[in-house]
Amino acid sequence: MTVPKKLFIKTYGCQMNVYDSERMAESLCDQGYVETSSAEGADMILLNTCHIREKAAEKVYSELGRLKSLKTQNPDLKIGVTGCVAQAEGEEIMRRQPAVDLVVGPQSYHRLPQMEARVRAGETALDTDFPEEDKFATLKGRTKAARAPSAFLTVQEGCDKFCAFCVVPYTRGAESSRPVPRILDEAHELVERGVREITLLGQNVNAYHGAGVDGSDQSLAQLIWALNEIDGLERIRFTTSHPNDMTDDLIEAHGTCEKLMPYLHLPVQSGSDRILKRMNRSHTAESYLRVIDKIRAARPDIVLSGDFIVGFPEETEADFQATLELIESVKYGYAYSFKYSTRPGTPAAERAQVDALVADERLQRIQDLITRQQHDILNSMVGRDLHVLVEKTGRNQGQMVGKSEYLHAVHIEDSKATIGEIVPVKITEAKRNSLAAKHIVI
Ligand code: SAH
Ligand code: SF4
Ligand code: F3S
Repeated sequence: MTVPKKLFIKTYGCQMNVYDSERMAESLCDQGYVETSSAEGADMILLNTCHIREKAAEKVYSELGRLKSLKTQNPDLKIGVTGCVAQAEGEEIMRRQPAVDLVVGPQSYHRLPQMEARVRAGETALDTDFPEEDKFATLKGRTKAARAPSAFLTVQEGCDKFCAFCVVPYTRGAESSRPVPRILDEAHELVERGVREITLLGQNVNAYHGAGVDGSDQSLAQLIWALNEIDGLERIRFTTSHPNDMTDDLIEAHGTCEKLMPYLHLPVQSGSDRILKRMNRSHTAESYLRVIDKIRAARPDIVLSGDFIVGFPEETEADFQATLELIESVKYGYAYSFKYSTRPGTPAAERAQVDALVADERLQRIQDLITRQQHDILNSMVGRDLHVLVEKTGRNQGQMVGKSEYLHAVHIEDSKATIGEIVPVKITEAKRNSLAAKHIVI
């Protein structure tokens, strides 16, 4: 019997990369690999990379520098770079780090098995095409292993919005949506393998317009309603959305669709109209706030989250104040804030940069405000009866951990609940980033 080769995948960046890593693992496992949790002893290492900020991209090269020494211990080891750095830098990666055998961009993962065969034969392999064929169709999940109760499902890829700071339109290509029947098949398959919650993914997921059974364009809301019919699927989420694509049918679904969870990630990036214009965001602070009002009218208890960039070129203190004011008025349950990072090839890279110390100081101030808001929302949950999808055992004896409807991590004490169950709890305490709860005995 041949000993299976070991595959180690390290994932950086967004949830779409997490999804892609799972699919790549499935396709290589079909080629006789087994997954392992450490780079040491692996026969194939894939770094699934992110190019969104400079730091994320540079991390890859320092990691490659460390990993190449493993080739002396295991001459059969092959190293690959996948994801958005692979797409953006291509061949350059092999020039900078000759230990790399394989480079493949996010749209070509279905070609990974052939590429693997080539590197096993001693060649290098590079593929950063945006091919015509549908990678998802070929990357169909065949491994029937049990899954965690919560899973990602990519329904849309790419972006046509071209925000002035962002590499995604270049690394993931033009917007495209998967057809509804394929998504439904995959969702059914996930549910059969124990999944109770699905998060639909896309760089611009609410711009989804995949073909329905009859070939007509379907909106994200229509897709969600179709998923709502699946027995055994209990929770639906989606991320990430653009404010301009929050259509009325999607907003309405937040009020009426039973399985759609009361949580929405809706990045705005800045509260200053002048900066939003320079960012090419094509919405204003006011139009964003109007969308939020509509969503809250449909679902008053919804927890909102957002992304912010501070220190975008030409941002003044007054612009930054406008961002703080917007945050004050929205009251986010979560928010992610980033210091602007210059990305070669994007329009903003050419503009007057904000002083790094000023940007650092703004980042600190925005994060203080966001942290205060997060605590307020966590505190507002104390005493409420919520439902938790149990995902794993906790650190303490008898403790189980899962997520509430609002995506907060909840630790349930003295629990006999099993993984995958959805249980009613009473929230007893708010911690820094999570909630404590006890079971409600019915
Ligand atoms: N498609 C999503 C998210 C894209 S990337 C959207 O439209 O919001 C995730 C986040 O990274 C962005 O929301 C933005 O806040 C941040 N980001 C993107 N490019 C960046 C850059 N050059 N510097 C700093 N942050 C950036
Ligand atoms: Fe990037 Fe803007 Fe597209 Fe989001 S909408 S992926 S921030 S270009
Ligand atoms: Fe990063 Fe690519 Fe996702 S740049 S954030 S891994 S789409």
